Amino acid sequence: MRRHILRLLFVLLGFIVGAVAMGPLGETTEADQLFAAEPASDSPDLAALAAEVKRLKGMVPSQSHSMMDVDYHFTNLWFAGQSNNWPLAQFYLNETKSHLRWAVRIIPVRKDKSGAEIKLADILEAVENSPLKQLDESIKAEDQEKFVAAYKFTLTSCYACHKAADKPYLRPQIPVRPATKIINIDPSATWPQ
Ligand code: HEC
Repeated sequence: MRRHILRLLFVLLGFIVGAVAMGPLGETTEADQLFAAEPASDSPDLAALAAEVKRLKGMVPSQSHSMMDVDYHFTNLWFAGQSNNWPLAQFYLNETKSHLRWAVRIIPVRKDKSGAEIKLADILEAVENSPLKQLDESIKAEDQEKFVAAYKFTLTSCYACHKAADKPYLRPQIPVRPATKIINIDPSATWPQ
């Protein structure tokens, strides 16, 4: 009988310790869930970690996928500028920049046909420091003429990188229609309120 009570006490103790470890009122936090998913062993299993990293790498979007986002944002930027919708233009310029950076993080160095290394990050830095900077200034100044010139200058720089990466057939142009179908580019639109 006494043994039974002792066993019950141990079970209860385990329950209390468990409840305290889980935090107030037994709420499980994200960190708890992470720890729960961790293997029981203390020694890190490097092979499993490497396999997991490989699996995650396989899930990263391709460079061409991220460039399709650049296509989308940069196309909309043209129409926002043309409509003098400067806050929207600023938004699309910022998105263009961050997606260009993302594209370069996916593949920072490419090899051209001759096997020479093409450092995309260096090319992007040059694009950021001149054409994209001019675009930013034209938007902040709400200057249509400067905007058109800077946009064309940027297109030339987009193409320069495509050529350097052995893809001269990726020739961008002034877009003919917006890429977005749902965002109203007209700055005087009043609906929805
Ligand atoms: C730093 C180099 C670099 C810059 C700058 C750059 N691109 Fe690219 N772009 C690439 C590379 C490399 C590819 C091919 C990616 C691949 O094949 O995986 C590409 C592909 C593309 C594609 C084809 C995507 C597809 O799969 O259909 C488009 C569209 C594109 N870029 C638009 C642009 C635009 C617009 C700009 C300028 C605002 C720009 N790129 C600037 C390197 C660059």
